[in-house]
Amino acid sequence: MKLSLFKNRINVLWLLAGIALASSQLSAADDGANTDWPLLGRTADMQHESPLQQINATNVKNLGLAWYADMPSSDGLVGNPMVVDGVVYQSGPAGRAYANDLRTGKLLWQYTAEVNLARMGRMPWWARRYNRGLATHGDKVFITSGDCRLIALDRKTGKKVWEVEACDPTGAEGMYGITGAPRLGNGMVFIGNTCGDTGVGRGYVDAYDENTGARKWRFYTVPDDPAKGPQKTPELEAAAKTWGTDWYKKSHGCGSVWEAITYDQQLNQVYLGVDGPSPWNPAMRAADAGDELYTNAVVALDASTGKYLWHYTVTPHDGWNYNPTSHLMLANLPLEGSTRRVVMAAPKNGFFYVLDAKTGKFISANNFTPVNWASRIDAKTGRPVTLPDARYWEHPGKRTVVLPANSGAHNWQAMAFNPATGLVYIPVASAPQALTADPSDVVGGVRSDDYIGFGKDPKWKAYGELVAWDPVKQQARWRVRRKLPMNGGMLTTAGNLVFEGTGDGKFEAYAADTGKLLWSFNVGGSVLAAPSTVNIDGKQMVLVSVGNGGSSNIGASLARLASTPKTRTQARLLAFALDAKAPLPEAKAPELPKPPLARFPEDQVKKGAVLFDQYTCVYCHGHGAESANGAIKDLRFATAETHQQFAAIVYGARIDKGMPPFPDIPADDLKAIQAYIINQAWDGYEAASKKESAKKSPSQKH
Ligand code: HEC
Repeated sequence: MKLSLFKNRINVLWLLAGIALASSQLSAADDGANTDWPLLGRTADMQHESPLQQINATNVKNLGLAWYADMPSSDGLVGNPMVVDGVVYQSGPAGRAYANDLRTGKLLWQYTAEVNLARMGRMPWWARRYNRGLATHGDKVFITSGDCRLIALDRKTGKKVWEVEACDPTGAEGMYGITGAPRLGNGMVFIGNTCGDTGVGRGYVDAYDENTGARKWRFYTVPDDPAKGPQKTPELEAAAKTWGTDWYKKSHGCGSVWEAITYDQQLNQVYLGVDGPSPWNPAMRAADAGDELYTNAVVALDASTGKYLWHYTVTPHDGWNYNPTSHLMLANLPLEGSTRRVVMAAPKNGFFYVLDAKTGKFISANNFTPVNWASRIDAKTGRPVTLPDARYWEHPGKRTVVLPANSGAHNWQAMAFNPATGLVYIPVASAPQALTADPSDVVGGVRSDDYIGFGKDPKWKAYGELVAWDPVKQQARWRVRRKLPMNGGMLTTAGNLVFEGTGDGKFEAYAADTGKLLWSFNVGGSVLAAPSTVNIDGKQMVLVSVGNGGSSNIGASLARLASTPKTRTQARLLAFALDAKAPLPEAKAPELPKPPLARFPEDQVKKGAVLFDQYTCVYCHGHGAESANGAIKDLRFATAETHQQFAAIVYGARIDKGMPPFPDIPADDLKAIQAYIINQAWDGYEAASKKESAKKSPSQKH
């Protein structure tokens, strides 16, 4: 088997001037009217909080649908809706942007960047399907295209103003792409990238002039090839010493900042959440490596110059992809008798961290969900006390169940902070994962079973939670259970409310102080986006995006964590207001057709299951060949014609549509993969028809 691109290298499963002037503009949403939601977290602090209280805990029961808009996107939209001057802006995968009228939902304009899929390497699906939002400022909207471009659009017309290539989609073996939302501050646009957990490229973050697109600075998160001589900065020189002997031969990083970038107006700093080292299996990196800086760290930079200020490592020498590349939030917290400006993070590793924003000093940490990789974070050193049983790389051949999974106890979905309750609301995923070290495995030296939590073992059950966390006391005030591990981002308001959408198709409001369920609306499609809220014509509106890609943003490979077959529906934007009563037509998810070929023999299917993962089909087409029905097809739906052309498609016939060529797969391997897909299609089809007939005749259940 020849997999030159992937072999042993990658783990693509999880794959982030005038200060005064800029500050005042960025705070436009705080003008008291709250008619705009211009930035992801409303303000630069990323609190996802609104002072609006027309909709409140008393009357939220009267909240109803004002309008909905079907969005022309094959994938659901997962960035929260931005609002400026009565227009809603959203971004979609592959360089798309949409503007809808806030009063009516009418689509005003849409923009599509032409993405050349054939030019991109084998990674494009990730960056092609995943887009976590946009940014607005002044007369511009800033989006990313997936294939490494950062694009400024005219906010009124949707026409392109400038464009830069912020990374090379053909570089690092075709592994670079952009999935994160651009961030703004100090007259600049900040953007990171992903190199797909490959360890073949270097992670970095760029700052561009927001008016011209001229690059102001670049910060590399990991050192360069030591053979090239000394590193270019003292902090990279220091970092190079932490990677161990001959590290560059084993891994180049990557340490991508695929999402978390937060700008601090008060301190003129930028905070980055840096992804982990790859391959994930530490046995495949240098044996004497230290912290492998600045992977898995929160890093603070001077926003004007991009100069390093401080870092704090959350998961040193990581083996589980427990990165802090999710949401980094800023707040002024009452701590030890004074008010301190802090950075708050709930990284994948399951611990909630409070760090001093100015110095990076560790203040406190505690786990917000059960974890089995560390017993605690040592209060003195701020470092985790890890548990040997979870170190799968020290137990070759043994299956090790870890909690959380590498998709994280909390991924990129937005948290929210309510100053009145003092609580941070976290969308938590409790999904165990079985890991087996395997240096020959194409997946970064470790094989994983991501759906163990949906199996029969009562010890390991996957579920989600909405956790209201007291960051001062470092403990939960209340918790609400969710059926699926992956759910939507949070919104909290001065109306004592917390809003969240779920993977199984609900949009709900809870009392922010007590966690009491106050309102629930069936939106049909899965939700991963965070809601936004604004005031329009004196009326408070709540906006949220729903739809299949809501789940696909997590689940091209992990559809089952974030959606059900029924919630893999089309992309929609929904707007809610008090006493509104617009009807919401059901959005139907496609139903599995009867497979076009008969079942194949079990031994061939078993072989196919392994090959499906080894040849990396899994990363685009999903675990169990089950996907969230977006731009990349769920193979269980493949027609007779597709199966006739199966070999041609896999050997390269659809490269222009983003299906990479695999010319080296021998015919019998290919047949086994096809056999596996067909049997998975039968399993899914039969399970669905069983459910259907049980529904039609409930008496037969007894
Ligand atoms: C980089 C992502 C990616 C990888 C890896 C990948 N595919 Fe695809 N595949 C796609 C995309 C995108 C399409 C949709 C092309 C289109 O729209 O026709 C596709 C389409 C297909 C189709 C046609 C489906 C249909 O119903 O029309 C088949 C069959 C297929 N892939 C099989 C495979 C197999 C087998 C593997 C592993 C050897 C694989 N793919 C790996 C992205 C990928």
